[in-house]
Amino acid sequence: MAQSAENKFPQWLSYFPRIDSTNNYAMQLVDDGLARHGMVVQAGHQTSGRGQRGNSWQNDAGNVMMSLVVRPVMLAEQQFALSMLVACTIAKYLQNLYQQWQVAIKWPNDIYINDKKACGLLIENIFRGMQWSWAVVGIGLNVNQTNFPADMPNATSLAAASGLRYDLLETVTDLRSGILNAVNLWKPTNFEGLQATYNALLFEKNQIRKFRLRDSGRQFDAAVLEVDADGRLLLLTHTGVQAFQSGMLDWLP
Ligand code: BTN
Repeated sequence: MAQSAENKFPQWLSYFPRIDSTNNYAMQLVDDGLARHGMVVQAGHQTSGRGQRGNSWQNDAGNVMMSLVVRPVMLAEQQFALSMLVACTIAKYLQNLYQQWQVAIKWPNDIYINDKKACGLLIENIFRGMQWSWAVVGIGLNVNQTNFPADMPNATSLAAASGLRYDLLETVTDLRSGILNAVNLWKPTNFEGLQATYNALLFEKNQIRKFRLRDSGRQFDAAVLEVDADGRLLLLTHTGVQAFQSGMLDWLP
């Protein structure tokens, strides 16, 4: 049963103290024809939380692990628009929560506070024929976790970065309404403005960083320029400007 006996949860929320992955559950709702725009699946603990590129996602009961189901209103070829919209909405929400933070989006859609990762997104899109019918927006936001394993030196949380504690249900409610609002107000003519907002928040913009190509393992230094309309990262390498698709590159420390 999803919700507790006290019934303290809003009707749009299915809360599971323990589940394999909120994204898996939300994808199943879509498959079963039970998905509704705005539904949220939230977990206290995920036994198989999924991250980008087949990685697992670590668990901490003090964090937000949620999947928001949306009916995207973007064109099918603009899947990166939803990713940018969600990342920008969360980044702006965090920036408002605590003005002293330096909030940035590490391409393609990790959200950083003061140079450390606070939030990861796993957006899964469901097509019926040519029609983009649903998106499951998986959000892992580190909220009240203050101890991180030694192998995660680059992670932070809202509590670790501010010294404050946060209410998880309030955070989930705010994230949901911010993202739904942005999706509901979306118009294709907003694309360029969204891309500009995203690029203004881009992590390490104009900085020289070390990268590694996933296929060949080759490492190189390059300056981070911007993200183009296809969601590719433009880097200034020693041979000129090159565009990289998500998944081609690793950022090295
Ligand atoms: C990343 O690798 O940075 C993306 C992490 C996404 C994790 C969230 S937690 C809630 C949702 N359910 C999952 O299994 N994954 C996402």
